[in-house]
Amino acid sequence: MSTSATNRTLAISQHLSGNATAVSVFEAVENLPLDPIFALSAAYVADADSNKINLGIGAYRDNDGKPWVLPVVRQVEQSLLNDKSLNHEYLAIDGLRTFTDASAKMILGSESIAVKEKRFLGVQQISGTGAVRLGSDFLFKINKNATVYISDPTWGNHLQIFGDSGFTVKTYKYWNAATRGLAFDEFLESLKNAPLGSIFVLHACAHNPTGVDPTHEQWKQIAAVIKERKHFPFFDCAYQGFASGSLAQDAWAVRYFVESGFEIFVAQSYSKNFGLYSERCGCLTVVTSTEQQAINVRSQLCRLNRSSISNPPAYGARIVNAVLNDPTLFTEWEENLRTMAHRIIKMRSECVRHLTDLKTPGSWDHITSQIGMFSYTGLTKAQVKVIKEKFHVYMTDNGRISMAGLNEGNVKRFAEAVDYVVRNA
Ligand SMILES: Cc1ncc(COP(=O)(O)O)c(C=O)c1O
Repeated sequence: MSTSATNRTLAISQHLSGNATAVSVFEAVENLPLDPIFALSAAYVADADSNKINLGIGAYRDNDGKPWVLPVVRQVEQSLLNDKSLNHEYLAIDGLRTFTDASAKMILGSESIAVKEKRFLGVQQISGTGAVRLGSDFLFKINKNATVYISDPTWGNHLQIFGDSGFTVKTYKYWNAATRGLAFDEFLESLKNAPLGSIFVLHACAHNPTGVDPTHEQWKQIAAVIKERKHFPFFDCAYQGFASGSLAQDAWAVRYFVESGFEIFVAQSYSKNFGLYSERCGCLTVVTSTEQQAINVRSQLCRLNRSSISNPPAYGARIVNAVLNDPTLFTEWEENLRTMAHRIIKMRSECVRHLTDLKTPGSWDHITSQIGMFSYTGLTKAQVKVIKEKFHVYMTDNGRISMAGLNEGNVKRFAEAVDYVVRNA
């Protein structure tokens, strides 16, 4: 670079930093700690112990501890490869319409009143994370004074996403440590005490990290208070079909809200239920009050997509699109889903069986009553530290384990490690 160009760059950075003596725009930029989940995975990879167990990352593993490409996904990938009509042109700004329509019908039900009245829309995004962020950015645009309430605890990214959009984010109590279940009364209190018109982020099923979902009766009471207080329900649905093995059962709460006349957002992820983690395939589905509103909201979400990602990626959406729109492939997918859900359910009971055999102090029933990918074990931070250092078992500091990381080869060892830390740490 010439001397004058160097001087010019220096002048620009001094100007941007607002400091005439600063030499760099980046001088005041702090180094942030690593994302806890990805830092945990890195520590696991670096561990040379042959018996190490990774229960940190929420990704499905088969009984050999390996990532699983769903057979139905493999099959569709093969046919996409052979389909000479496909090319790499841009998708529309809101994605592949046959995919987003099918995605909306999958969560709302094809017989949903919102579908019949065309009061819905779907916009494709970069998986569940992108869908939550798109919804959050849009809500901030139209109502920046609303407070967003997320559950305590919740998926670690919720606070960052809604906070980065600009919202004030507060929490509602969700976990009752004494019962190792839902803090239902406190949850209802938060709903009642939050300012009118707050945004409540709700996990549609398989709550992350606790694995504890409200019962149908509890959902009804939650919906009644949300209606009374004019709050906005923003569902995050990262595990449809993964929790119970049934798509309809896992969509119950969302469908109940729509039947009850709510406008809602649902951020849908295909990372877990299709195993398409790195393909970043997701959809923000919206239910409005009128068809015209659906048209208007779509146009606004397109505007946001255009300025953030321009248009979404095709590969994962083409796979999901093929499966959701073909009855034979769909049936195969449901079978694949059941395989994953049932393996996890089996690991829950195996884990409890070993703890019972070991006469590990305390009650462990919550491991089998919780659902989905995760279990909130109730282990303390100190116990988590010891289990990692002594037994090479990796889990988040809050005692959450990804059940998918357990298999017939390691579940007994895991139970023995839990038994040790419960007695000694
Ligand atoms: C509650 C919840 N929401 C959203 C996501 C988003 O995942 P992805 O962006 O991979 O679809 C996750 C993933 O762990 C999650 O647990």
